[in-house]
Amino acid sequence: MNSAKKKQFALTTPLYYVNDLPHIGSAYTTIAADAIARFYRAQGYDVLLITGTDEHGQKIQRTAERLGRSPQDHCDQIAAGFADLWAKLEIHYDRFSRTTASAHAAIVKQFFERVWQQGDIYLGQQQGWYCVECEEFKEERDLLENHHCNVHINRQAEWRDEQNYFFRLSRYQQRLREHFEQQPEFIQPPSRRNEVLAFLERGLQDFSISRVNLDWGFPVPEDPKHTLYVWFDALLGYVTALLEPGDEPTLENALQRWWPINLHLIGKDILRFHTLYWPAMLMSAGLPLPGQVFGHGFLTKDGLKMGKSLGNTLDPIALVERYGADAVRYYFLKEIEFGRDGDFNEQRFINILNADLADNLGNLLNRTLKMAVKYCHGQVPLIDLDSLGEDHPLQILGKSAGVWAAKHYQSLAFSQACEVALSLVRAGNKFVDEQAPWTLYKKGEQESVNRVIYAVLESVRLAAHLLSPIIPNISTEIYRQLGYDLKFNLQGIVAGGAPNIDLSQWGSLQGGQVLGTPQPVFQKIELLEPAAL
Ligand code: MSP
Repeated sequence: MNSAKKKQFALTTPLYYVNDLPHIGSAYTTIAADAIARFYRAQGYDVLLITGTDEHGQKIQRTAERLGRSPQDHCDQIAAGFADLWAKLEIHYDRFSRTTASAHAAIVKQFFERVWQQGDIYLGQQQGWYCVECEEFKEERDLLENHHCNVHINRQAEWRDEQNYFFRLSRYQQRLREHFEQQPEFIQPPSRRNEVLAFLERGLQDFSISRVNLDWGFPVPEDPKHTLYVWFDALLGYVTALLEPGDEPTLENALQRWWPINLHLIGKDILRFHTLYWPAMLMSAGLPLPGQVFGHGFLTKDGLKMGKSLGNTLDPIALVERYGADAVRYYFLKEIEFGRDGDFNEQRFINILNADLADNLGNLLNRTLKMAVKYCHGQVPLIDLDSLGEDHPLQILGKSAGVWAAKHYQSLAFSQACEVALSLVRAGNKFVDEQAPWTLYKKGEQESVNRVIYAVLESVRLAAHLLSPIIPNISTEIYRQLGYDLKFNLQGIVAGGAPNIDLSQWGSLQGGQVLGTPQPVFQKIELLEPAAL
C-alpha cells in the first residue's frame, strides 16, 4: 500500500435491542455518533459509522410471543422502525448490523472456536438472579425488594440454576489492568474509567455465555443443546458489520480493512460489557483492542427517570416530527455535557433553540444579508483581509475557532464545540451594533462598510461550518444564502462545484460572491399548548 493511505475512523453505536421501537436513549447515542462521523468526514477521513440491532435472546423471544409474532417477523418490523427514525434524524450510517444476519452466524462461530481453542470456555453451574430485561445476572445485593430489578423496577429477576458454558474472564484481569494503565484514554470520560477500575479491583469473575431452554439465538458450536448468551453474540455484531458487501463471511475478511474500531459509543449502563467482557474476549481471540469506549450519561425528563411504568417516556419520533432533526440534534448535543447525565424539558428545549438558532445565529445572518443587499449590491464585499487589522475582534476569534472546535469534536465535547461557534456569532451581533454600518453608509464610508459586512458574513459562515456536524440542514441553508452551491451532507461537504478551499479557515468567504435572498433559517418556536411529548 502507498504511504499516502487516507486516514480512517470507524465508530459504533450500540446494537439496539428490538424489544420495542427506539427510545430517546438510543436516539441520543446515535445522534452523537453521527455528529462525530460528519466531523471526521469533513476532515477528510474515510469514516465507517456502524449502528444496528441486537435481535436474539430471551427478552426478544418473549416480546415476540406476547405480540403473537414470529421472532424474526418481530425483529424485521422493529429494525425497520430504527432505520426510519435514523432517516428522520438525518443520521447517515454506513452499516446497519443485524445480529440475525446469516453472515453474523458464521462470524460468531469462528470467533467462538478461537476462544474455545484457547481453553477459555468451560462448562459450569450457574446459579443466580437473572433480569431478562437487562439480559444480565444480578448480584443479590443490587436487587430491590422481592427481587425486583434495580433498573427495571417493575420486573422481578428470575432464579436460575442451570449448566452453562463460562468464559474465563478472570484469566484476563491482569492484562486488562495493564491495558487500562498503558492506554489511559481507553475508557472515557475519566469518571467511567474510575468506575471500571474500581470494579476490576474487586476481582473479575468468569461469566456464563450460554443458556439452556432458549431457542432464539445461535447454538453453541460445540454443544448445540445450549444457546449462546445474547451479549456474546451481540458484541460480535461490530465485527460482522465490517464485512464489505459480497465478502465471504470470515473473520479474516471482516478484520481486514477497519479493525480495530476507533470508538465504541455507548451509554453508561453497558460499560462493563464493553470495557471488560469485550476486550477480554478479543484478547482471548488474539485480536487488537478498539481505540476507545466512551460511556455517555443518562437522560431524564423534567428531572425524573424515564420509564414506561412511570408514563413519562420521551418519544424521539414525536419529537423529531414536531421540531425537526436539527432542533433535536442541537438540543441534546449543546445542552448536555457529553458524558454527564442530562435532562429534557420542553420549555428549556424551546428557549435554547430560540435563543441560539433563531435570535443569535439566524438573526445575525438575516440582518447582515439585508445590509449587504442595501449597501453592497447583494454581493460579498471585496476586501483585503489584512485591512481588518491585527486587533479585529471577529478576526481574532475566527482565526482560532476552527482549531478549537476540532479539538472539542475530537474529545466529544460537543457542547464546547457549539460554544466556539456561538461565541463567534455573539461577537458578530455585538460588532454590528457597535460599528453601526448604516451610519457608516450614510457618511459615505463605503470601505468601512465593506469591512464590517465582510467580517460579519464570514463569522456567520464559519459558525455554520463549525456547527454543520450537528445542524447540517441549517448550515446548508446558511451557506445557500451566502451564495454557495454546496451541501453539508454525509461526506461533510459535497459541492456542486466545491471550492478548493479549507472552509474551516477564517477568510475563505470569497469577495464578489453573489448572495442569496435573506430568509429566516430557523423559525422561532412558540409553545402553544402543553406538549404531548
Ligand atoms: N443490546 C444492547 C447493546 C448491545 S451492543 C453490542 C443494549 N441495547 S439497548 O437498546 O438497551 O441500549 C440502548 C442504548 O441506549 C444504550 O447505550 C443505553 O445506555 C442507552 N440508554 C437507554 N436509556 C437511556 C437513557 N435514559 N438516557 C440515555 N441513554 C440511555 O443495551
